[in-house]
Amino acid sequence: MIEFEVHPSESPMPAPDREAVLSAPGFGQVFTDHMVTLRWSEGRGWHDGRVEQYGTLALYPATSVFHYGQACFEGMKAYRQESGGVALFRPWANAARFNQSARRMAMPPLPEETFVRALELLVTQDSDWVPDEIGTSLYLRPFMVATQHGLGFTHPSDSYLFCVIASPATAYFGGGTPRALTVWLSEDYSRAAPGGTGAAKAAGNYGGAFAASLQASARGCDQVVWLDSARHEWVEEMGGMNLCFVYGRSGSSPQLMTPALTGTLLPGITRDSLLTLAPLFDIAAEEGQITAEQWRDECEAGVLTETFACGTAAVIAPVGRVRGASDDWLVGDGQPGPVTRRLRDELLGIQYGLRPDLFGWVHKV
Ligand code: PLP
Ligand code: COI
Repeated sequence: MIEFEVHPSESPMPAPDREAVLSAPGFGQVFTDHMVTLRWSEGRGWHDGRVEQYGTLALYPATSVFHYGQACFEGMKAYRQESGGVALFRPWANAARFNQSARRMAMPPLPEETFVRALELLVTQDSDWVPDEIGTSLYLRPFMVATQHGLGFTHPSDSYLFCVIASPATAYFGGGTPRALTVWLSEDYSRAAPGGTGAAKAAGNYGGAFAASLQASARGCDQVVWLDSARHEWVEEMGGMNLCFVYGRSGSSPQLMTPALTGTLLPGITRDSLLTLAPLFDIAAEEGQITAEQWRDECEAGVLTETFACGTAAVIAPVGRVRGASDDWLVGDGQPGPVTRRLRDELLGIQYGLRPDLFGWVHKV
């Protein structure tokens, strides 16, 4: 087992200032007093694990990550439990996905128990930073970057830094009942192509998405919906969330469909959790495929009644309106629908310890 030395911060944020941050945390703006760092080098493997004061990293300008983008990350949350204490949600799933991303980026895998241990240590050290209102949480960002000094391009880096930072958060789109999003169908750009890095949480996937995000906001939209790169027809996902479609004609049980994992979209842990949870509430759930045209036609026919985005940062966010270069339509009445609201309540209920944890997803720290 890889060990971590704990070096408590000598200048933690004063409690009144921290409380002020926790009363309205926003997303990813303020970071806790500590971070975890762990180094990897060829021949030595993982070493120098530390929990230490949050601060700057010293890296030479010729460090490989700045040039070749060999970097991957995870996103997860620690939740204050109804019964007291703090819990992570499915951290082993994040550990496994982190290693899938690492493999795709030719980076060294991190033992899953070390990944989870690093999160537990940081959450324990900064437990006063976990806010307690439903919808708020401590967002955790584990990441790994290539640290070799030099511009050689024939091999992946020979050294890496793994780091975990933490930031108190309200849900990405604000707390309380979520407002319905307006989304933009990206036709000029692609996020991922077959054989590319779309199924990995590689940093470059996000850097490459900003141009489309700017286009979306210029059209008055909140988020980009990515279509398949070859034909720009099949709906894949959003920039930081998966998508779910609800067929809910009155009189029959609703059905939920989420695009299948074709290798070009991220296998979301929230998505996977909803596929498992939905049938408990008489909502049939399956993976499938949908084109943008079908999405529009089925909304207009009143068959497809709800669409929502799901992910760690976003939780579950309803999609009320879809816009493209030559299209613009409402999903249902443009407001959050009943299946969206129900699944959001059930998922949050499990995460905050208000509902039974039937699948062993809640990991107490
Ligand atoms: N898709 C992308 C591109 C993401 O970045 C995320 C967030 O991590 C998701 C989907 C949702 O994944 P998860 O539910 O594991 O947070
Ligand atoms: C997450 O939900 O954790 C994400 O990674 C989305 C985003 C903020 C990049």
